[in-house]
Amino acid sequence: LEQKLSYNPSEPPVVPYYVPFIGSMIEFGIHPIKFIRKYQKRYGNFFTFLMFGRRMTVCVDIDGNDFVFNVKHSSVTAEDAYNSLTKPVFGEGVVYDVPNSMLMEQKRMVKAGLSIENFRAYIPIFIKEVNQYVDKHWTDDEGTVDLLQSISEMIIMTASHTLLGPEIRSKLYEGVADLYHTLDSCFTPIHFLFEWLPLPSYYASEKAHAELDRIFASVIAERRKHIGEKHIDMLDALMASRYKNGEPLSDKHVGNMLIALLMAGQHTSAATTTWALLNLAENPDVVSETREEMETTMGCALVGKDIPEPSYETIKDLSSLDNIVRETLRIRSPLVQLMRKVIKPVAIPNTDYVIPAGNYIMASPIISATDEKYYKGAEDWIPSRWNNVEDEATADKATTDYGFGATTTSARSPTLPFGGGRHRCIGEQFAYVQIKTILYTLLSRFDFSLDPKRGMPERNYQSMVVLPEGPVLCRYKRRKD
Ligand code: HEM
Repeated sequence: LEQKLSYNPSEPPVVPYYVPFIGSMIEFGIHPIKFIRKYQKRYGNFFTFLMFGRRMTVCVDIDGNDFVFNVKHSSVTAEDAYNSLTKPVFGEGVVYDVPNSMLMEQKRMVKAGLSIENFRAYIPIFIKEVNQYVDKHWTDDEGTVDLLQSISEMIIMTASHTLLGPEIRSKLYEGVADLYHTLDSCFTPIHFLFEWLPLPSYYASEKAHAELDRIFASVIAERRKHIGEKHIDMLDALMASRYKNGEPLSDKHVGNMLIALLMAGQHTSAATTTWALLNLAENPDVVSETREEMETTMGCALVGKDIPEPSYETIKDLSSLDNIVRETLRIRSPLVQLMRKVIKPVAIPNTDYVIPAGNYIMASPIISATDEKYYKGAEDWIPSRWNNVEDEATADKATTDYGFGATTTSARSPTLPFGGGRHRCIGEQFAYVQIKTILYTLLSRFDFSLDPKRGMPERNYQSMVVLPEGPVLCRYKRRKD
């Protein structure tokens, strides 16, 4: 009754709850997507729920995505929503720990390390790292592996090598990987909800950061000694970058930015690659078509390890692999809650609602991406649905600067796995090149099938990035000439 009496019709409807303060946290936490769909049906695309004292206004479907991604920065910010979560992981002075105008400049600096010239150099490194990993760990002709674990290691090695550079990559197993894990352990919903709690993981992450700062500083100092020597990686790009006012990014901020990039891409790309392979394991016809396209494009059989390296153009043009990644991201977007904090009351366009300051707003683009009104068989994994997207009124296939990740260029597309607006992902093209190259290499060398006992894993919503529920058992079989 109290909730009904306090209802303000100029604000979005509030999901009723039994326990004050806790609100709908448990129902939301168990399955956020089911929760959002249930109340979207009841209240429409804008509604508020209480979660541990925070008022979260969910904004879904195309209008909801558009509102969250393009709302005025003077009223609603990402930094007020995220910085307490990301600062212990990324460190100070980067991403959400700086004014938004500075983040925009930092994103421009990162672009220099994501040029086509760099991608050309990254592809052979991706292939070498994947081959080294499977040669070391998948030694039998066939076997069962924890696919998420294997892919996560391939992602960390390929990303460290190309973003942080070979020096730090070579230290990965001399403790650097453990330092990343320590930082990563602060990246959980608990840390988001209990930002005021002095959790022990914060102290551990401070120590890990200090150690990583020391390692980065020595690598940067060594590179500065050999000034004419060019490395094609993100570290070099950031070391050479300057703000508009001519100031360089300090060495500490170069290190922190690299950690931020590595962390932003780690679980997102590992989850996407793993889901793609799990779905391929269930769909041998898609595997055959993809291999056929790979072989036609390369002009030879692609079996085993000693296969020709694809160029950047080949990887870009392999449309079957593109469709696989795109479709996987549509139904298994790893980020399902994108948040902002309202700092000044803000009206939702084309509604009578005003969201008060202090509320959080939350976009969940996976809701429209898996809505039957936009995609037939919306929950099914059908990569070929992207073959003729030009004909589909709902999909947008405009190309980006690099020609990758074409689905997310229109803010009004129902599929936005990389977000939109000023905070749109900067790593999309890198992720596409990395994931497609890993799939190219693995599909040439192995056949995959689901573990008969485990089958297709469910989604695990207990982390900030939605992962397949472990252990993600999958069978591999070496392909022979
Ligand atoms: C932001 C998704 C890979 C760097 C984002 C956002 C999404 C996203 C949805 C927007 C967050 C928001 O609006 O609140 C993904 C997915 C990936 C991926 C699905 C892989 C499949 C990467 C990689 C990098 C990266 C590889 C770095 C190389 C970033 C950064 C931001 C971001 C720095 C923050 C941008 C900002 O707030 O302005 N990503 N990402 N991401 N991503 Fe990615």
